[in-house]
Amino acid sequence: NYYAILMAGGVGSRFWPVSTQDFPKQFHDMLGTGNTLIQKTFQRLSHVIPKENIFILTNERYNDLVLEQLPEVAQRQVVLEPAMRNTAPCILYAALKIQKENPNAVMIVAPSDHWIEDETTFAKNVQTAFDFCEENDVLMTLGIKPTFPNTGYGYIEYDKTTSDEIKSVSQFREKPDYETAKQFLAQGNFLWNAGIFMWSATTVIKAFQNNQPELYELFESGIEAYNTDNENNFIKENYPKAENISVDYAIMEKSNNVFVIGAEFDWNDLGTWGSLYDKLSSESHKNVILNAKCLAENSEGNIIRTPKDKVVVVDGLHDYIIVDHDNTLLIYPKSKEQGIKQVQQQVKNKF
Ligand code: GDD
Ligand code: MG
Repeated sequence: NYYAILMAGGVGSRFWPVSTQDFPKQFHDMLGTGNTLIQKTFQRLSHVIPKENIFILTNERYNDLVLEQLPEVAQRQVVLEPAMRNTAPCILYAALKIQKENPNAVMIVAPSDHWIEDETTFAKNVQTAFDFCEENDVLMTLGIKPTFPNTGYGYIEYDKTTSDEIKSVSQFREKPDYETAKQFLAQGNFLWNAGIFMWSATTVIKAFQNNQPELYELFESGIEAYNTDNENNFIKENYPKAENISVDYAIMEKSNNVFVIGAEFDWNDLGTWGSLYDKLSSESHKNVILNAKCLAENSEGNIIRTPKDKVVVVDGLHDYIIVDHDNTLLIYPKSKEQGIKQVQQQVKNKF
């Protein structure tokens, strides 16, 4: 009864110029491990979920990339979105499909672009959550111990009176402002939402029915077509009509049956070049060099990525991102990395 929804439809624009609309970060070997992020995620999930029950949700333009990088996956497992509508529509759509195939399905929803090294502990935490979801009508998330007031994450307030592994959640708050995030951190009983969810198909569909009735009706109206030859026509015509909204705002903030399990593994959502630097520099501390042959003098805190074996010489350079990819060379301060999204847009408009 175990299923997975692997979300692989984002663009990862802050990882420009490597991540682009045609070739987003989940299809790149960002960590230099020999596997792309989506391959790593698929492997990780396959310790708990039968491979044929892992569904990949992505934009239709990435179909070939998915099939090429995940040869174990059949076309029926790849759901192609004709338009980008964020995570809520893609999750509801997949949940309806899965429930039609197996009414007792329990599932994990996972992003395809995160770093999690400890696959064994990951599998153990997911199994514990699955056991709980099979017995209870709950929406579960994986919580990460927060380290600073990051405003890009969801925050989970849990019941501090219990020492249970699975805790009831009194408040789910998506992307609070900086002052609120600081307050949450000071309070002590908050976790970050890892963006990894677990629930039964029945429970998540009910949550959409209660909190997003329009979206529910839109997709439910096609249920006859799901998993048949008519599905393509239905999705092409109706998916673009869905509201653009993330699952966090759509159901997690609004539900009162949310529970959290604290992740016992290290996690990084690899959102920016800086987060990749932080992840990889823990071992070497100074500069993170990917693919290049680098001679660095008086230089620290840089992340440098080039085509394989390109020779790079730096002197007196601190805290910079240097990325040489295709016909683009980016030399940009790490402190301004959030702006890379806009830079990409400017470049697109100008050249
Ligand atoms: N299939 C599909 N379709 N996938 C999508 C779409 C879409 O339209 N939009 C986004 N995704 C995928 C992204 O590729 C990513 O893997 C995942 O869904 C989450 O989307 P993000 O856009 O990265 O979300 P976020 O980082 O702003 O916030 C979420 O993740 C945080 C942790 O990384 C939230 O769940 C936060 O609460 C959470 O803290
Ligand atoms: Mg993200």
